[in-house]
Formats: sequence, structure tokens, C-alpha cells
Amino acid sequence: MTAKYNNFYERWLGMWEDSQEEKKKSRAVIHDEELEWIETPQDYRIALMAGPENGFRTWGSEVTIADIPSGAHTGQHEHGEEAIYIVEGEGCSIVNGVRYDWKEGSVLWMPFGSQHQHFNTGDGNARYLSFTALNLEHFAGLGRVDQWQEKGYTDTPIDAEVSKDGLDKVGRRIAVFKDDAPSLEFDPEDPASRNPEPALDVPVEAGFMRDNPGEGPSLGAHRDWSRMYMGMTRNNRRLGRDTGFRNMEIEISNSMGDAPGRHGGKHAHMEAYLYIIEGSGYTVVDGEKVDWKKGSLVHVQGPQTQHQHYNDTDKPNAQLRLAPGLRFNFFQEVARERFPYLVWGGRGEGMVPRDSQRGGFGGGGSQS
Ligand SMILES: [Fe+2]
Repeated sequence: MTAKYNNFYERWLGMWEDSQEEKKKSRAVIHDEELEWIETPQDYRIALMAGPENGFRTWGSEVTIADIPSGAHTGQHEHGEEAIYIVEGEGCSIVNGVRYDWKEGSVLWMPFGSQHQHFNTGDGNARYLSFTALNLEHFAGLGRVDQWQEKGYTDTPIDAEVSKDGLDKVGRRIAVFKDDAPSLEFDPEDPASRNPEPALDVPVEAGFMRDNPGEGPSLGAHRDWSRMYMGMTRNNRRLGRDTGFRNMEIEISNSMGDAPGRHGGKHAHMEAYLYIIEGSGYTVVDGEKVDWKKGSLVHVQGPQTQHQHYNDTDKPNAQLRLAPGLRFNFFQEVARERFPYLVWGGRGEGMVPRDSQRGGFGGGGSQS
């Protein structure tokens, strides 16, 4: 067996402690200036933000960010499911022969095995964030990337049938523009929007996870505002809110944020990533403070990581939430009794001073 274990069962008994050790060594955040940019047959400029390859202990998923120069296109390739967020620029993607236009704030979904290629049709740079689960697919023995064409400059008209509604030929949503994604705005004049509810001392299971969401304390949203993209597709369909996306393996759930000088509610759940679209602030993750700013990616490891977001600036901020299907479509349900999605609530005014560590967190601090 290994130096540490005499037999398989000893190793099984040691697994939890082993993963805790690995998590402690894993990265929690990466900032724009730390990115290592490379060129590939697919992209002129791409960087891995988070994956096992650069020190993040992920649930088999990866996040990359890539640039398409003006007038150029990526290669054409195919692989497992992919969710894409357009950080800047305008263009289109050809997915299984159909064209889907996009611009800043658009979200796209590449079905498993779909042939796809992205075109920058604007005058400036186009940047896109990509979320996949290739490492999980590889674990399952079906990880495969086929490169059908290499990147290049677009010197002939883009010839493909245009999707008028962002849906594919079988009615699945492939693309949505930011302004077409339903949003919940923050209204400082509205007491409910400001949320007067103090934090709970003892957390409860999140309403949407309960068999009867209406039963038990309703703590409202944990963030001041949100815009729903894929928004936990399976759960939405259960609650009758169908975005049209049929993603199963990965998800760009929503964008969200807290108004200046405010913080979100405290909660604990399985793996998620937060890409910082705008602004700066920090998140207290299991008692540790993680600073972030525009272009950063924060990793919440799970399976029940306590965390809370703070906007300690006088400017708005916006975060994009990403989560793996291994969470939404499998373990969040399967392991619900052992690792429930917990909420303390307490969204509201006030900060934990930047230089204090555990002091303000969970101690009621700014929750009161
Ligand atoms: Fe792709």
C-alpha cells in the first residue's frame, strides 16, 4: 500500500484528513496580474485562472480567460460542456453550424460534443471567460479535445444561419444577452431590499433546498442584487423558472453584488467560483480574509465552506458565480443531510475592519 497506509481501508479512513491537508495548501484566489498567458492552436492569448494544473484543488473543473484580437477568430474545436461569459467586446460564435451573436455581459453554453468557434467582429479586443470540467471528464475516461481548425484572422464573411432567439434547433438556450437576463435590483429606499433581518445565531438550510421552500425562516437573498443567467438550471426548473439552458456539467449561475459599504449574508455550501467583473472588496472564507478586485477569481472549495462577501468601498461591485454540475446536479442533493447548504443571513450595512482576522466573523460584529 502507501508509506502512510498499510491497506485500502486505512487509506479510506484517512481520506477526510488528507483532503483537509490538501485544501489548506490549495490556492484560494488568483489576480489578473498573476495570470500566465500562452498561445494555443485555439487562442491567440489564453491563461488558466484555476485548475489542478495551477494549484487549485477543484472538483475536476477549470476556468480560463482568453483574448480574441479585433478581426480574428479562435480555432474550431469540440470537447465536453462549456459555459462562457463575455468580459469585453462583441462578436459571434458558430455552434454546430448556427451563429449566435454576443457582446459584453453575454453568457453562452456549448453543449457536450458541439463544434464551436468564436469570432471578434468589433473594433476592440474581445475577452471571454470559459468554464469547463475536463479534469472530471478525464477522471471518467471521456476527456477529449478535438481541434478541427486553428485560429486566424477573418478574411471572408462569416457564413452561417443566424439564431434569432439564442436557441438551438432543438430549443435549448445557447446564448443570452445581459439585458435579457432577469435581474433583482437593490433599492436602498426599500426596507425589504435593505434587509433589516439580523443574522441567525444558528444557521438553517437554504430555502430553495428545502422540501418545502416556504417553511422555516426566510432570510431573503444573500446579495443586494443579482442577475440570473443559468441560475441553478435544475433547481429553477423545479421552481418553474426555466431559463432555457440545459447545462448539466458546468454552470454560470448569475452575477451579483453588494452596494457600497454593505455585505452579503453569511452562508456555507459546496464548490463555487467568483469572477470579479467590477469593483473590489473581500470575502471571509472559513475565517480567512481573501481580498479581490476586478479580474480576480476566488475559489470556494466546499463541501460546506462558510463565507461572506464585503464591499468596503464607495463603489458598486459585481461578481460572476460559477459552479460545477458535480455540485448542482449530484452532491448537493446526494450529500444534503451530511453537508446541507446553510444560511445565517444578515445581509446589510457595515464592515469587518480590514486588519482584524476572525474577530468580526461569526462574532456578530457587523451583523448586529
Ligand atoms: Fe471550447
